[in-house]
Amino acid sequence: MALVAGLSGLAVVASSALALNTAYADPIRYEAEGSGAVCDGVIESNHTGHSGSGFCNTDNAVGATLELRVDAAAAGTMTLVFGYANGGTDSRPGEVVVNGASVRTAQFGATGAWTSWTTQTVTAQLDPGSNTVRLQATGADGLANIDYLDVTTGGSEEPGGGDGVYEVEALTRGVAVVPSGGGNLVSWRLLGTDDENVAFNVYRDGQKLNSSPITGATNYLDTSGDGNYSVAAVTGGSEGSRSGAEAELSSGGYLDIPIDRPSSSYEANDASVGDLDGDGDYEYVVKWYPANAKDNSQSGYTDNTSSMPTPSRETGCGGSTWGATSAPGRTTRSTRCTTTTVTAMPRSP
Ligand code: GCU
Ligand code: CA
Repeated sequence: MALVAGLSGLAVVASSALALNTAYADPIRYEAEGSGAVCDGVIESNHTGHSGSGFCNTDNAVGATLELRVDAAAAGTMTLVFGYANGGTDSRPGEVVVNGASVRTAQFGATGAWTSWTTQTVTAQLDPGSNTVRLQATGADGLANIDYLDVTTGGSEEPGGGDGVYEVEALTRGVAVVPSGGGNLVSWRLLGTDDENVAFNVYRDGQKLNSSPITGATNYLDTSGDGNYSVAAVTGGSEGSRSGAEAELSSGGYLDIPIDRPSSSYEANDASVGDLDGDGDYEYVVKWYPANAKDNSQSGYTDNTSSMPTPSRETGCGGSTWGATSAPGRTTRSTRCTTTTVTAMPRSP
């Protein structure tokens, strides 16, 4: 029996960062031209790229203000994001005043053109119910053109007391080779730890294929040969170590991954991926489904359902180490690999 990892499977393993703690609420947008907003100037729409039907172009004067009414479900720290454009040459500072109290003066720097929109962010405490948020110019040029205010609950803190740190798996470069378009498509992971200006060199049998380091893509189509591929990151002009190909798909566009069926009364069911043993390679975790499995709308019972990782070439894990049945939901660790067992299906009468 074999799992067939096609392109979609590879697309799954190409993700290097797993965000576990990102449950911010969507922001609520208050348009500068919306009801409840008061613009000391005119609502205009002549500069393209704005949100909604227009923006507030305040008078060019100290104290010129855009006032918005913002509803908060509960008291708390909110993130206020002002969308704006400033085609002038100088920053146009604005004092943020919430319910009559000054929060801080924020800079609305020049954006290069009145059609170039960007954002400025301020955090502030809001009261439950209706709040008045005023942005008032402290300079003689008035405010930048203000497009909207996005309000997000949660402020700078993670909901649920998270520490704001993303947990990521320490994965390998994951070089994969897929026959494609008369050549080989070599692709690899951009890692969360890569430099933001990282570039890459691609090698076939030790020969560099690209004329200059590759930026803007994490793949390369080699139409002039076949061989053993490797990829090296280039950071600040210096090349790191080369990572060899970890998966080479057949000319049919798939990769066979052998799996051992625990017994003839089980069949392979859902599968997912995770780096269970921390070696930087993903294991596929396959759910073994008993032949007598029943939907809980039916009477009868379902034998234990189990899951186990597919073999990992480096560790020799999985395969024949059929996970010992343990208590429902328990995880059993063997010496050389991790075997995830058993989610027992509830038995129906
Ligand atoms: C220009 C521009 C306006 C802008 C104004 C200003 O007139 O078209 O959108 O508000 O300059 O400098 O404030
Ligand atoms: Ca103006």
